[in-house]
Amino acid sequence: MNEKRSSVHGEWSSGLIFILAATGSAVGLGNLWRFPYLVGENGGSAFVLLYLACILLVGMPIMIAEVTLGRKGRRSPINSLRLIARDEGVSQQWALVGWMGVVAGVLILSFYSVVGGWSLFYGFEALKGSFVGISSDEATGLFEGLVADGPTVLLWHTLFMVILFSIVAAGVKKGLQRAVTLLMPLLFFLLLGLVVYGMTTEGFGEAITFLATPDLSVIDGGVFLAALGQAFFTLSLGMGAIMVYGAYLPQQNSIPVSSGWIVGMDTLTALLAGLAIFPIVFSVGLEPGEGPGLVFVTLPIVFGEIPLGTLLGIVFFILLSVAAITSGMSLLEPAVAYLTESFGGSRVKSAATMAVLIWLVGAACGLSLNAWSDITLWPGKNIFDSLDHVASNILLPLGGLFVAFFVGWKIRTNTVAAELDTHNHHYLFLLWLWATRVIAPAAVIFIFLNATGLLALISG
Ligand code: PHE
Repeated sequence: MNEKRSSVHGEWSSGLIFILAATGSAVGLGNLWRFPYLVGENGGSAFVLLYLACILLVGMPIMIAEVTLGRKGRRSPINSLRLIARDEGVSQQWALVGWMGVVAGVLILSFYSVVGGWSLFYGFEALKGSFVGISSDEATGLFEGLVADGPTVLLWHTLFMVILFSIVAAGVKKGLQRAVTLLMPLLFFLLLGLVVYGMTTEGFGEAITFLATPDLSVIDGGVFLAALGQAFFTLSLGMGAIMVYGAYLPQQNSIPVSSGWIVGMDTLTALLAGLAIFPIVFSVGLEPGEGPGLVFVTLPIVFGEIPLGTLLGIVFFILLSVAAITSGMSLLEPAVAYLTESFGGSRVKSAATMAVLIWLVGAACGLSLNAWSDITLWPGKNIFDSLDHVASNILLPLGGLFVAFFVGWKIRTNTVAAELDTHNHHYLFLLWLWATRVIAPAAVIFIFLNATGLLALISG
């Protein structure tokens, strides 16, 4: 029962490659597109504060728990959970958590691919020189024009899905491992450069105030939930992406150390994105609460002004697309791994099945911003926003809650301790264990109750 399984899908060449791949999964549109606009919509630094608290108290322990499950199970999340539950003598229905993750992955990738398509479109616009001397009104017009144009959105969404499919079908190890190693650091430096540029603009002071002076009065159940959802979204937690990557992690590498790097780099990237974008927002007089167009409206203005702006714009939006692709792969991988395991089928067929399904749902998301804008699924939200809300703010935290409960309470502590190999770090292990058992689940439940208004009801 305690012998080690090996992965049927292959393993990363080293622990470092795992860190890069998982960071590639974590760092994506969530950091550069979603984080800044949520900060803007949810009142600035109070949101940032809650987000950081969620990363530390909920995200970090669950990251370790997910990687541990993955490496122990060595299969797709659905099968890993089933096998581990069987080994531990608990109900195999825990595999349902893996299924829920697959659903969340489909929903997220659907709108993610639409936004990935926007990134590709912007790379192309940069290439055409469209940003040169662009005013803030023109930049707003460019974005609104794109979103209103159904066929164009569908075209770029299709291109994004085709690229993603080709990579995942080929297997993660070739091409991607190498691409990630090379491109992620480049993206990081480019972002750093944009921050330095932001420091020279007149909006920098205002941006710092906005990001670092919390106005706690703006916090309500909705802001809390958005911060929690963003913590899960940005760390790729709660749907099996990190779990399946953990399944390919060589046995000798440390899970807590790797997790620390992933969480650290992801958080740093999000904060840098905020520091790059808000100075521009304030210097050109845009609204921080602009919504999903924020990064696509602000950055072209900068690229239109600075020396070598056209070239840097092309590079930036290509890298943004790459970041989206490395995240998109991990959104696809749990389902593809499962299909490949179950039907003994080829990876190509599994990837094609998922890609077609997701393309269809994604097409509905793309159209929901123009032709189908009247259709609402979640009260008051179009298809795009409904899928984002349900998947990111409900399914991911719920998945994380189950993972924490399973690892913390259902699996024997010895099993977990052996996988984490924590002999020399007894106190750190206990700290993590109780964070997983109590703190993370309590935080998720508190935020859920708070958001539904039940908390107010209970406390009278
Ligand atoms: N973490 C990715 C991002 O920030 C998105 C993602 C969510 C990837 C969930 C995998 C799973 O862009």
